[in-house]
Amino acid sequence: GQSNATLTIQQNNTGLTISRHIYGHFSEHLGRCIYGGFWVDPSLPVKKQDRIRLDVVEALRKIKIPNLRWPGGCFADEYHWRDGIGPREQRPKMVNTHWGGVTEDNSFGTHEFLELCSLLDCEPYISANVGSGTVEEMSKWVEYLNFNGESPMSKIRKQNGREQPWNVHFWGVGNESWGCGGNMTAAYYAGEYRRYATFAKNYPGAPLKKIAGGANSGDYSWTETCMKNIPLNQMWGLSLHYYTVPGTWGKKGSATAFDEQEYFTTMKKCLHMEELVSRHSAIMDHYDPEKKVALAVDEWGIWTDVEPGTNPGFLYQQNSLRDALIAATTLNIFNNHCDRVRLANLAQIVNVLQSLILTDKEKMLLTPTYHVFDLYKVHQDAKLLPVLLNSPDYSVGKEKIPAVNASASVDSNNVIHVTLVNLDAHKNIDVSTMISNLPWKTVEGQVLTADKFAAINTFDAPNTVQPAKFSGAKKNGANLSVSLPPHSVVLLELK
Ligand code: AHR
Repeated sequence: GQSNATLTIQQNNTGLTISRHIYGHFSEHLGRCIYGGFWVDPSLPVKKQDRIRLDVVEALRKIKIPNLRWPGGCFADEYHWRDGIGPREQRPKMVNTHWGGVTEDNSFGTHEFLELCSLLDCEPYISANVGSGTVEEMSKWVEYLNFNGESPMSKIRKQNGREQPWNVHFWGVGNESWGCGGNMTAAYYAGEYRRYATFAKNYPGAPLKKIAGGANSGDYSWTETCMKNIPLNQMWGLSLHYYTVPGTWGKKGSATAFDEQEYFTTMKKCLHMEELVSRHSAIMDHYDPEKKVALAVDEWGIWTDVEPGTNPGFLYQQNSLRDALIAATTLNIFNNHCDRVRLANLAQIVNVLQSLILTDKEKMLLTPTYHVFDLYKVHQDAKLLPVLLNSPDYSVGKEKIPAVNASASVDSNNVIHVTLVNLDAHKNIDVSTMISNLPWKTVEGQVLTADKFAAINTFDAPNTVQPAKFSGAKKNGANLSVSLPPHSVVLLELK
């Protein structure tokens, strides 16, 4: 099959930049994300610094991850940071009640996380305990992290081997406070936020970018209540969590075994992000017309059933080409909404939910999703070029979705990058592209696809889904014609 689309790439008249922080990630004390993912047993035969796995670090440096959110998730609201500092053998243990009821030995704490961020060359995004913590506890954590002078907390920090403050900026005040973070009402949370945020201080050289715990999916009244009740100058961002669940929360569906109907439904649910971002933004516009407060989509991604035989509390799932199409589509949505979406975090970076990397003892593999972040890194901090797209439908049964989605940007060297996704499982789509008043002479590209939408990378065959050179783009006078294969992601570079 074959069909046609038209795309117009406009000039950057808006001056909008795609924040690199849209390309952020998330690492929770959950399953094998921290323990067994980043932070491994000293006996594991891989290159390590302390207990941090360096092959994983190196792969993530390559795609320029801008920020990493930690320690949760739900775990954040039962985490007490003072248990995770000082000599490791003296640190108290705790139960990780949300994720498998396992014992947390606190060997990975504040210093270890910030060391990881420095190895990754990314900004930390700490999400702090509101649900079971205290204002004092949060306030002292900030002092411990960010105060350069002499103080009770900076003294302990220095005793623990760190002279200089870390100057952490991104600061989450609670997580999912409507649920695992305390089952609060929106009005109650907004009040708590104001109090906690007041005592999370801005120390010299370390102004906090405070992020309020936002809505679950389409809970617009949560956003409304927070925007109404929290002064704009008290928050840098307001969050939103949305997961693409192929089936229902009770029976989510397999990460690897699904038919076209299920593939289609999943992509339809993924595209719902467009509506969520638009409608939450519209509410924010009402209270904050100057768009000072960011919409921080700090948890997103596909959530399937766990791999058969693995601990259901560990949320370990495989990752297929379908997941790559979800990542590429969602990132296109965020790019196009970069006026408001200025931070986002895929859940979660290693071995949990929609991962970039899977590990099995000393082995590791890069997932199809990893490759999307690799292709899309060119959009980080580039100027948005708004797109107008006329896409054919992709339909299964009586339902339809737009087959193609896209976004574009121009970087500081005047190189134009266009990312296109074709969700149609069967049809090749020809995209005739007009580029308004932007000079370019040559086009090159890469494509991420496979023979089927359920294709995966395994430890034995880790390169089944990986980017390849794309030869389907041609210059046609001032225009560009692009031939998108079925279920593919394409990156074009115009110079
Ligand atoms: O990412 C897994 C969990 O999903 C997080 O801990 C929680 O915030 C969300 O419900």
